[in-house]
Amino acid sequence: MGKKIEDVKEYWDERPCNVRYSLEKIGTKKYFDEVEARKYFVGLHILPFVDFERWRGKKVLEIGCGIGSDTINFARHGAQVTVVELSASSLEITKQRAKVYGLENNIRFYLGNSEELSKFVPIEAYDLIFSFGVIHHTPNPENVIKQIRSYVHPGSTVKIMVYNRYSWKVFWILLTYGKFQFWKLRELIARYSEAQEGCPITYTYTKNDIKKLLEDNGFKITEIFIDHIFPYSIPDYVQYKYVKVWYFRWMPLFLFRFLERHFGWHLCITAVPKSNKN
Ligand SMILES: C[S@@+](CC[C@H](N)C(=O)[O-])C[C@H]1O[C@@H](n2cnc3c(N)ncnc32)[C@H](O)[C@@H]1O
Repeated sequence: MGKKIEDVKEYWDERPCNVRYSLEKIGTKKYFDEVEARKYFVGLHILPFVDFERWRGKKVLEIGCGIGSDTINFARHGAQVTVVELSASSLEITKQRAKVYGLENNIRFYLGNSEELSKFVPIEAYDLIFSFGVIHHTPNPENVIKQIRSYVHPGSTVKIMVYNRYSWKVFWILLTYGKFQFWKLRELIARYSEAQEGCPITYTYTKNDIKKLLEDNGFKITEIFIDHIFPYSIPDYVQYKYVKVWYFRWMPLFLFRFLERHFGWHLCITAVPKSNKN
């Protein structure tokens, strides 16, 4: 794609992820409460996937925290959290969020490129390494996975979410913006994958791709599942109204769930480090 880490940083600095999830003044408690409510309302699968309670008293390394919705939940549930974020403006919002909830002392903040993690985050073992919707936006995702290997102990867990290639969203992008120009697919996906048009890099993965990436770099997958189709009409959604598009409105729930579990946008993976025995 020819895009560089500086382009990625610039894009997320200009519009941090989910920053418009509330109309309240950025940095206030009301703002952060609304951002959190919206994030888990549209992403119902996130809470069971992460299971914040499980990480109480544990050490968590979060890669690409954005504006910190998950970060705050780890900290609130009593985890000791270390976060890494490429975008300075996103990290500033996460710091402010921690302050608003009185959780600054439970979180360490690092600004930088997680492809070079060991250059700026002290090497120590974490119980959980968590990265939701991040590594597919960096120029070389494999570098991040290689770096993560230095931060695990035999009992560690890795949980990541990457975008699913064979998904409704990819089909929708092709249909809506692509006029079925399959040869431009990679470029189209990047441009339209996020709320703000023009994301410089967005890779998508099949289950096999992500399995290979992790297994080649010393991890064993323990769970992998697909979930999440965004069913709301975008013009309503940006007005903070949740109105489903007509075809999802009429679709029986069991069918919608079937589609989500097979053609959803989020590929959620849990992995553990390979030991010599496995
Ligand atoms: C889609 S957002 C997800 C944010 C957060 N995990 C969430 O779920 O709300 C992607 C984030 O990854 C960050 N990011 C992208 N590449 C990165 C890298 N190489 N190192 C650290 N953060 C990165 C971006 O700055 C952005 O905040």
